[in-house]
Amino acid sequence: MDINKVMIIGAGQMGSGIAQVCAMNGYEVILHDLKQDFVNRGIKAITQNLIKQVKKERLTEQEKTDTLKRLTPSIDLQSAASVDLVIEAAVENMAIKASLFAELDQIAPVHTILASNTSSLPITEIAAATRRPEKVIGMHFMNPVPVMKLVEIIRGIATDDEVYRTIEKLAVSLKKVPVEVNDFPGFVSNRILMPMINEAIYTLFEGVASKEAIDDVMKLGMNHPMGPLTLADFIGLDTCLSIMETLHSGFGDDKYRPCPLLRKYVKAGWLGKKSGRGFYEYS
Ligand code: CAA
Repeated sequence: MDINKVMIIGAGQMGSGIAQVCAMNGYEVILHDLKQDFVNRGIKAITQNLIKQVKKERLTEQEKTDTLKRLTPSIDLQSAASVDLVIEAAVENMAIKASLFAELDQIAPVHTILASNTSSLPITEIAAATRRPEKVIGMHFMNPVPVMKLVEIIRGIATDDEVYRTIEKLAVSLKKVPVEVNDFPGFVSNRILMPMINEAIYTLFEGVASKEAIDDVMKLGMNHPMGPLTLADFIGLDTCLSIMETLHSGFGDDKYRPCPLLRKYVKAGWLGKKSGRGFYEYS
């Protein structure tokens, strides 16, 4: 199965990163979002990133121009009619994803693979909203997408082997390292990462140490590039909460209970770096 043209749904932090990586590696990319403003913001972030790469002499001016030329903005879902692969990076909400996949299923050609960058929602359930569950797969990129090597590839219960192999090959062509996992709450990455972050929040909540001390312990003691509270701000506290809720409801075990302090911050609109305040403040 050949992939030439890709549509990315969602021009936020993850979607624009995925679009950048696809366009840099020769794919024609349609970057789609609900509003022109959102798409423009995504294209602007990609452009700034490419300018930095040129300054660091990792990319030539010509490569930057060619990459940008391969990007087409869209606010019309009908654009899916011309692509071989859709990678959805919209909000982490099952009802929204299910209705989006049902609509994409109506628009996209029969050969088109529908992938989701969901960080924890069940691929099998997303696939059930379509008439092509064998062509639905999870393609979970890590933030920041241009830097992080991993793509967790999640097989839904009905995903075809050929579809899996196509996506694995595509990930390699993006200079990423694909890792195969089965469809279970949080997959592998967030089943392990998020309880650690949640535990760090409990540690703060219970007054065991200051936020800086908690982050220092994990950075200096465990060689993590970022402390867990900084990382939570970077991921987005709303995303962290929604992943913990998926783990909690999916496994039904109290060890996944989201920390009340995490809930409180999200209710306050303190969502981390993107909102200017989370555990830390950002200007
Ligand atoms: N976009 C593109 N490039 C970025 C970037 C961004 N947002 N942020 C940093 N970079 C690049 C820098 O330009 C720099 O590139 P060069 O080496 O080419 O110069 C490189 O990354 C290193 O950056 P810095 O030197 O500024 O800072 P750093 O050494 O602290 O690295 C980091 C930054 C790569 C983000 C590092 O702190 C890190 O690895 N943090 C942990 C990231 C992580 O855990 N990500 C997974 C989150 S979980 C997830 O995404 C999945 C989910 O479902 C929740």
